[in-house]
Amino acid sequence: MAHTGPRKKRARQMGTSMAPTQDIKFRDLVLFILEKKMGVTRRAFLMELARRKGFRVENELSDSVTHIVAENTSGSDVLEWLQVQKIKSSAQLELLDVSWLIECMGAGRPVEMTGKHQLVVRRDLSSNTNPGPQKTLPPAVENISQYACQRRTSLNNCNRIFTDAFEILAENFEFRENGGSCLAFMRAASVLKSLPSPIISMRDTDGIPCLDDKVKCVIEEIIEDGESAEVKAVLNDERYNSFKLFTSVFGVGLKTSEKWFRMGFRTLSKVRSDKTLKFTRMQKAGFLYYEDLLSRVTRPEADAVSMLVQEAVWAFLPDAFITVTGGFRRGKKIGHDVDFLITSPGATEEEEQQLLHQVINLWEKKGLLLYYDLVESTFEELKLPSRKVDAFDHFQKCFLILKLYHQTVASGQSSQLQEKTWKAIRVDLVMCPYANRAFALLGWTGSRQFERDLRRYATHERKMILDNHALYDKTKRVFLKADSEEDIFEHLGLEYIEPWERNA
Ligand code: CTP
Ligand code: MN
Ligand code: MN
Repeated sequence: MAHTGPRKKRARQMGTSMAPTQDIKFRDLVLFILEKKMGVTRRAFLMELARRKGFRVENELSDSVTHIVAENTSGSDVLEWLQVQKIKSSAQLELLDVSWLIECMGAGRPVEMTGKHQLVVRRDLSSNTNPGPQKTLPPAVENISQYACQRRTSLNNCNRIFTDAFEILAENFEFRENGGSCLAFMRAASVLKSLPSPIISMRDTDGIPCLDDKVKCVIEEIIEDGESAEVKAVLNDERYNSFKLFTSVFGVGLKTSEKWFRMGFRTLSKVRSDKTLKFTRMQKAGFLYYEDLLSRVTRPEADAVSMLVQEAVWAFLPDAFITVTGGFRRGKKIGHDVDFLITSPGATEEEEQQLLHQVINLWEKKGLLLYYDLVESTFEELKLPSRKVDAFDHFQKCFLILKLYHQTVASGQSSQLQEKTWKAIRVDLVMCPYANRAFALLGWTGSRQFERDLRRYATHERKMILDNHALYDKTKRVFLKADSEEDIFEHLGLEYIEPWERNA
């Protein structure tokens, strides 16, 4: 990607001088940019940029402000903050996400404020537990698509007794390298997760796609006996339990588990103390931080990690966008890691390539880096998207374990009881070119099943190829551009599915 004259470079030299008032082009708007969650550097950068583009931006919040711009903050948080500032939040006062301001900067004028820009109170996460959209789905099951990307799947799964069973069976088939049966049970779990009500009798399964005979047998057993004999057998199976245990170590996959199992290992302590086994750097870290990583990441911990990432990234690229992706973006309250997508509109190719290295050096100096594996980009702009449903992407990325001090976690303490003052947290950072950000965001938000079905749908229903980088129309032989996830859904002819409805 060729960038001429990075904006950011100029911005750094701008200092903090105020644009003279005669430069104000848009007099109806008075902006105020919230520092909270955004930080001083980035706020100063955006204020300066907006002023150069002819916007009036106030240093302080006052009654004259018409538009408040915030980042990574919900509408209710902004309202709360306003109350503390003793500013009445009048109906005229717009509360907007920073994406609106960025679009204005791009357009060089105020752009229309749409729903995606407006910080609707608590629209983000608490609504997960009581999702509106499901109510608009037809009550009958006749219209359920076989593709997860045409279903809305929130986190309140009312068929958990079935889906838990399917997931255990799918995992067991995976451990036994029976891909077909694994997929069948994963698809079945996925489709039941999208249902608005529990399955009570076999009649309720009529018309639901992705339920083959084996799956239906399990459903019937659970309806009749409250449990499935097959699932019970798996839970008592030695191979299943050993694989489950071994793969719970960061860096241990199916191949290693198979080897250890064949060698007769059944416990981690035996594996750990064996002198003949060679461990990879990843596995060594996996054993070293085993308990911390097993206890998983809470939302307050993820928020604290976000602050660390923001601070480090914005020190080098103040215009970078940092988005939490993965399970947390889908509204999950707990995750095995925290995933971030980073992209910068103004960075040169070299600055882009350097960023993760700089961030890692910074954390290393601060003593926060417990493990990292940096994978350089192998991205080629003109290459066709990958046809594989589970292909890895080509962006530069870094898999890390960070040291998170409890004192940095907002909820008081993070979920650890010992005297240890920190917790090891798995973090994934992905750096992507600005032009690919919508595809990367869609690809890294998941769930895995949702992603698989998006690609399957693109291929089979639209003669297009979708991956984490691009969307290619095979009929027209063109790459379809996208600035947002909405654009991609539109290209695919799909109704937009919000991140918290992608828990397929
Ligand atoms: N992903 C990907 N390429 C990878 C790894 C992950 O495209 N090499 C995508 C997957 O689609 C996945 C998302 O990134 O949905 C996040 O991956 P991961 O952290 O493994 O899963 P989560 O859904 O975030 O689950 P958890 O909360 O357990 O972390
Ligand atoms: Mn994740
Ligand atoms: Mn991840």
